[in-house]
Amino acid sequence: MTHPRIAHPGLATRRVDAAQAAEWIQPGMAVGMSGFTGAGYPKAVPQALAARMEAARERGEPFALRVLTGASTAPELDGALARAGGIDFRLPYQSDPELRARINRGEIEYMDIHLGHVAQYAWFGFLGPIDVAVIEVAGILPDGRLIPSTSVGNNKTWLDLADKVIVEVNHCQPLGLDGMHDIYYGTALPPARRPIPLLQPGDRIGEPYLRVDPDRIVAVVETNAPDRLGSFAPPDETSKAIAANLVEFFRHEIRAGRLSEQLLPLQSGVGNIANAVLAGLQDGGFSGLTAFTEVIQDGMLDLIESGVITMASATALSLSPPAVERFVANIGLFRERIVLRPQEMSNHAELVRRLGCIAMNGMVEADIYGNVNSTHVAGSTIINGIGGSGDFARNGFLSCFVTPSTAKGGAISTIVPMVSHVDHNEHDVDVIVTEQGLADLRGMSPKQRARAVIANCAHPDYRDALQDYFDRALAGSAGRHTPHLLGEALSWHQRYLDTGSMRG
Ligand code: COA
Repeated sequence: MTHPRIAHPGLATRRVDAAQAAEWIQPGMAVGMSGFTGAGYPKAVPQALAARMEAARERGEPFALRVLTGASTAPELDGALARAGGIDFRLPYQSDPELRARINRGEIEYMDIHLGHVAQYAWFGFLGPIDVAVIEVAGILPDGRLIPSTSVGNNKTWLDLADKVIVEVNHCQPLGLDGMHDIYYGTALPPARRPIPLLQPGDRIGEPYLRVDPDRIVAVVETNAPDRLGSFAPPDETSKAIAANLVEFFRHEIRAGRLSEQLLPLQSGVGNIANAVLAGLQDGGFSGLTAFTEVIQDGMLDLIESGVITMASATALSLSPPAVERFVANIGLFRERIVLRPQEMSNHAELVRRLGCIAMNGMVEADIYGNVNSTHVAGSTIINGIGGSGDFARNGFLSCFVTPSTAKGGAISTIVPMVSHVDHNEHDVDVIVTEQGLADLRGMSPKQRARAVIANCAHPDYRDALQDYFDRALAGSAGRHTPHLLGEALSWHQRYLDTGSMRG
């Protein structure tokens, strides 16, 4: 008798335990794994692999892989493999402490790449051959098609390109996910590309299931474990103030006739601040909104449940345990209001531009001219990665970046003379928001931007020093278009490294 979650008779016979499945993966291989922002990652095979890697290391045999995913995963994947010394190349986004530490120690090559670019890089051949795909699904249909799990990410790409496929069927993922996904098979390499026929966030342009030739599936592993996501920090006074500033700005834009009451499709980034901004929208008096985003976090689930957002398109459901309970209890409602797509679609430049998304992303720091660093502390130490923020910032209708005006208890100003690393340049950044206020940089020259950012966004403890830097740069500069004092521009970061504080 075939198991109901594994309805394809041939594949039901390929059920093995995780250790047997992991035998298909050999040192040096490139492995495409499922997983996007802690959702829908394989739970068992990576841990079995890590055990093999540890054993190989004890024998003095190197065993490391190129690990490609959708985005960040969880301790069972990134953490386990990194700890075992089993990753020598990783893309495109991570947030695991062990993995991050090894990347920053120089032990792992990490390619921080726009999430919307990964699929085309893979198809262009820039990432090399993909040997094995390890993909979590909610079930297998009688004809071998796969019911996707809580994230789609790059699964379509890995399934299409990998020589061999290992499928993890997770009995813990609700079968109510069936029908929530929209997998588009119409992408092509240039010059054969055609317009993607999506006009509204909720449009379904593909099919609910992932295709794969069952003959390439070499192992099926059954698991029964939830996605392991932590809870978000509840919004504090600072993040509430950031949210209030952004909501007031949206109201202002509606009054000015540049936005309608329904705004435009929202994209919301990862992290506590982005989540708090969504909580702010909950109380902002809006209704009938839509989202075209990557990740549905708790704050967005609340907005969908309350009807503030009537339709949301994303590639992953990254929910805390209490939010998962609400999602499962109300899955009928959410199936009507959520479409999960490959990240190739959720982050597609063509679609973000066409829909005119409002992008709202967290950042590490901005400089007075509006360049934004989303990824690195003091220029060299990576936190997570650019994720999809660039896909949306570059192509959206409105590109907003949010951050508290200070970090590390006030020792760091997040508004600096010059960013120590650039992810989003001054040409892609429209609005900078802190708890102090908001700078709308649209239509401004560099000097006008600097005055607005210093006056509206900087913390009072650092405002005078920033103004002093700008004034002296302006007075002394041979090039007064974007005035800088090059010997001083990064001195705030150097002071932080030397003394633990940017304060002079
Ligand atoms: N210098 C040093 N550290 C800084 C910093 C700065 N200028 N700004 C923030 N940080 C640290 C915080 O202190 C905190 O560290 P801790 O956990 O040790 O306390 C950490 O970064 C997170 O900051 P927090 O203020 O809680 O914000 P967040 O959870 O909203 O995360 C980013 C902010 C920038 C790390 C996060 O938004 C991110 O990774 N962005 C890039 C990816 C992205 O935008 N994705 C969107 C689509 S996927």
